[in-house]
Amino acid sequence: MTEIVSPTDHDRLLIIDFGSQVTQLIARRLRELNVFCEIHPFNSVDDAFLAEFKPKAVILSGGPSSVIDDGSPRPPSKVFELDVPILGICYGQQVMMEVLGGKVERGHGTAEFGRAYVTPGAEKLALLEGWFEDDREQVWMSHGDHVSRIAPGFEVFGTSPNAPFAITADTSRNFYAVQFHPEVHHTPNGAKLYENFVKLAGFEGDWTMRAYREEAVAAIREQVGDKKVICGLSGGVDSSVAAALLHEAIGDQLTCVFVDHGLLRKNEAQEVVTMFRDHMNLHVIHADEVELFLGELDGQSDPETKRKIIGRLFIDVFQKYANEIEGAEFLAQGTLYPDVIESVSFSGGPSVTIKSHHNVGGLPEKMGLKLVEPLRELFKDEVRALGRELGLPDSFIGRHPFPGPGLAIRCPGEITREKLEILREADAVYIDQIRKHGLYDEIWQAFVAILPVRTVGVMGDGRTYDFACALRAVTSVDGMTADYYPFSHEFLGETATRIINEVPGINRVTYDITSKPPGTIEWE
Ligand code: XMP
Repeated sequence: MTEIVSPTDHDRLLIIDFGSQVTQLIARRLRELNVFCEIHPFNSVDDAFLAEFKPKAVILSGGPSSVIDDGSPRPPSKVFELDVPILGICYGQQVMMEVLGGKVERGHGTAEFGRAYVTPGAEKLALLEGWFEDDREQVWMSHGDHVSRIAPGFEVFGTSPNAPFAITADTSRNFYAVQFHPEVHHTPNGAKLYENFVKLAGFEGDWTMRAYREEAVAAIREQVGDKKVICGLSGGVDSSVAAALLHEAIGDQLTCVFVDHGLLRKNEAQEVVTMFRDHMNLHVIHADEVELFLGELDGQSDPETKRKIIGRLFIDVFQKYANEIEGAEFLAQGTLYPDVIESVSFSGGPSVTIKSHHNVGGLPEKMGLKLVEPLRELFKDEVRALGRELGLPDSFIGRHPFPGPGLAIRCPGEITREKLEILREADAVYIDQIRKHGLYDEIWQAFVAILPVRTVGVMGDGRTYDFACALRAVTSVDGMTADYYPFSHEFLGETATRIINEVPGINRVTYDITSKPPGTIEWE
């Protein structure tokens, strides 16, 4: 059985996950409707779990399996006896039909992948309120198998050319089944379907950030009591919001450690420390460890070696400062809900390490500390909303992500103080350009990388021999995939001119137009 995340007594919706790539999007759509939901893998949902979770409604997600195959996933049959509304999506629809007495068959020309159009049945259905105003609705299909006979009690409310049972329902039991994915962008009216579903299930939409803030504060106080908490502050959104929330809950019992490894952006250390220490009155230790980090990185050029050195030193340094805080029993971490889902996912087998990520994993056990994770119920945009609710300035909340190893991974080859200084200046000009053109919020992440080559140029009447740099800007949803941002030529030209004029040490600017995959966002 997996752990139930919500400590609240909100109405809860249970999403039983059969491994679809887009299950998280179902949760997103529901959270947008102020409905609290949790995703749990099908093989961890048993009768005891259902009794404890007490869902007010259930959604069965899509998935890659075929219900025809022996041993393919099934929800516990108790789900259908809970007397709550159930919505089956794609695989969820097929498994519902199979279990409830219908029939599913293999493709044979009936597979559908991509855009399809559904037309309505004769009768109206509350789930489809606001649908079919234009006679048909665009939906996103992704199925090989199809339902060939619906289960007793079900009626047809929508069909597509290859899915005669695209939308079916047994209204007496409040069971609904759709062959398509209403949670994806390519089903433009899909959000309406979820809105109707939670309305007919009787959800009040009481999951708001204000309510969350109050409950989280109470929960932190209860967990921590009068003990002390240490929090690593990076200046990124997650750790900033976690620190602000903890501060509201326990005030002076919180000490934040900000590790300055000398790989931060221009003015960054000062901005973070000023903001939290002076404006928000938090107790912040500014760990100036620039010499230590840059000393150990001296002469190192292999990306993985650089990352490992930084990761190891970070833990050592954090531990050193944390040990000075007498009586600390808790370590705060900005774990988010997607990390929680990831770690319980039944399909999430070990994946190849592309890059060793740097974090403080393993620290709590090593130091004998207990964990406080006040954001573990939230998605990233909910963390931002909470930050706003807590009064953090937009300039902090809307920041692009910045990696733990900092500028080290934007400086391929050997890291030198000279290169870091040039990089900081170039990055500041680039970000200033992006802000001036009003593009900052459209871009997911933007930065400069300094290249380990010098090139020849001519400035005034003289020859130059300086570094080349690469500008990077990507759009992305979660950093897992990314596309380069299509700047105009004017923007690129103006930015290159500014960098070369304003940053001594650079005489050539390039723009990186690699998507991820095959590239990664960072250069190392
Ligand atoms: P890549 O380069 O793997 O980066 O495409 C994806 C996202 O992750 C960030 N990143 C890191 N963040 N510690 C972090 O906290 C790390 O070691 C790390 N490496 C990459 C990167 O900035 C991008 O947002």
